Amino acid sequence: MSSTSFSTTPTTRNPLTEGLPLRRRPAPCSIVIFGASGDLTMRKLMPALYSLAFRHLLPEHFTVVGAARTAGSDDSFRESMLEAVKTYARDEFRQEVWDELCAGMRYVQLDETDDSMGDSLTGMLDRIDRERGTLGNRLYYFAVPPSAIGPLVEKVAEDRSTTGWNRLIIEKPFGHDLASARELNEEIGRYFNESEIFRIDHYLGKETVQNLLALRFANGIFEPIWNRQFIDHVQITVAESIGVEGRAGFYESAGAIRDIFQNHLLQLLAITAMEPPSDFTADSVRNEKVKVLHSLHTPGPKSVVRGQYGRGFVEGVEVPGYREEPGVAADSDTETFVAAKLYVDNWRWADTPFYVRMGKRLPRRETTIAIQFKRAPHPPFEEIAVEGLRPNVLLIHVQPDEGLSLAIGAKMPGQGMSIRTVHMDFLYGSAFRYGLPEAYERLILDAMLGDATLFTRSDEIEEQWALVDAIVAAWSRDRVAFPNYAAGTWGPPSSDDLLHRDGRSWRRH
Ligand code: NDP
Ligand code: BG6
Repeated sequence: MSSTSFSTTPTTRNPLTEGLPLRRRPAPCSIVIFGASGDLTMRKLMPALYSLAFRHLLPEHFTVVGAARTAGSDDSFRESMLEAVKTYARDEFRQEVWDELCAGMRYVQLDETDDSMGDSLTGMLDRIDRERGTLGNRLYYFAVPPSAIGPLVEKVAEDRSTTGWNRLIIEKPFGHDLASARELNEEIGRYFNESEIFRIDHYLGKETVQNLLALRFANGIFEPIWNRQFIDHVQITVAESIGVEGRAGFYESAGAIRDIFQNHLLQLLAITAMEPPSDFTADSVRNEKVKVLHSLHTPGPKSVVRGQYGRGFVEGVEVPGYREEPGVAADSDTETFVAAKLYVDNWRWADTPFYVRMGKRLPRRETTIAIQFKRAPHPPFEEIAVEGLRPNVLLIHVQPDEGLSLAIGAKMPGQGMSIRTVHMDFLYGSAFRYGLPEAYERLILDAMLGDATLFTRSDEIEEQWALVDAIVAAWSRDRVAFPNYAAGTWGPPSSDDLLHRDGRSWRRH
């Protein structure tokens, strides 16, 4: 397939300000990370804080407090965070940046069942306020398993700061089903206002996901054709080549439906399908997203497919099947793949299928949203002239190779009138020539600034769970023989059938 590039004027590089809001620097604060010894803190949170420090985007007075049940000291915490930064940060290591960030770093061992927990943490935070000028502003990041969130929130609430603001970032999955999510919403809501609660879905912090908003609402050409009249269907793919990566304990009870579908996937769908908000305040954007989630039609059993990978080859390397992964039951029924045909029951999208699929151990890492337009009503060319011509597709590459690609028909050079599909591409890498910020950088900074636009509101979470609960209830009535796809393939054959039945097929490139 040929490829053409949109002519883009590269912007002047300013690596210190790239892609992150500089409207104002956050007020002084402390961030308390519950789950400080966990994978997320190591791989994402600490590297994100380092990158913010690297760009001077952190508050002038700032402190990181790590908290977990495991015994540790300030020094051991600093050492492991240094390791995390050196291993995972997207920026080069600079001693002076690290020294400044690490200067205020503290560790507290705590157990939410212990009555004195509040005292040790609050005492430490009060001291930090006095010594480091953090003004009683506190951002609590709950990077812990869902079961630990409620009790920890209660403890935090007992000792909430009265001199500054208190904000909570809550990791996903938020609950395990609708009932537990409601309970958690109610529990947190007893102590904190919605404006203090930041339910994180890191896909919303990805540049390309925000660019989808820019594409739709900052350009006049797309909105008139962004509907059932012009769009044949939409395909959303969240494919990962990795397996469970040592997270079997969590994944066994979550599966693909709770890990990705309930949150990242449905948020991508909501942003693709939402009406234009009247402004970009948190509530306007979230009001429009929740309407889409509410309009999702519960799919029938034939419209949802699940799979689990068996042994196979991914990127040339032999990998074990899911049931052979450490910590996974030998007869596990957990799904590692889901595909579904969804409908948004409203005037804009009635009868337009949204085909979605997500899974682990697929051939490659790829998150894309493909908007497939209807064919031209009557191509006045001979059939042979348009051989290989596909319908127009606007492909949004969320990751990797972030950018957009528009497939159009173009005349091949030479005699006659032969038409082929070519692509007009916009690539972040070549248009802006600098690395994109990690989602967690953007989101942590937004929470410090009190901007909840890119966080999920309680009603969105509940709509998402209502759909998942309906799907899971249908699954409990019908068993599937697992494993049913080999690692390194695009899921079970029934995933292809889902589209073939409608005379369509998944994009393959
Ligand atoms: P890990 O199992 O690696 O770490 C969990 C952390 O929580 C550890 O620091 C653990 O330390 C602490 N913890 C566990 N139970 C409690 C408790 N009862 N009270 C206080 N602290 C506790 O998990 P991850 O870091 O992978 O994930 C954390 C959260 O982030 C989960 O909700 C996960 O779904 C979410 N998440 C993770 C992602 C990832 O890539 N890892 C991506 C997106 C979301 P200790 O045992 O010492 O208390
Ligand atoms: C997390 C899931 O939310 O997202 C993981 O728990 C998954 O299972 C990860 O691997 C994917 O995130 P990203 O940003 O690498 O696409």
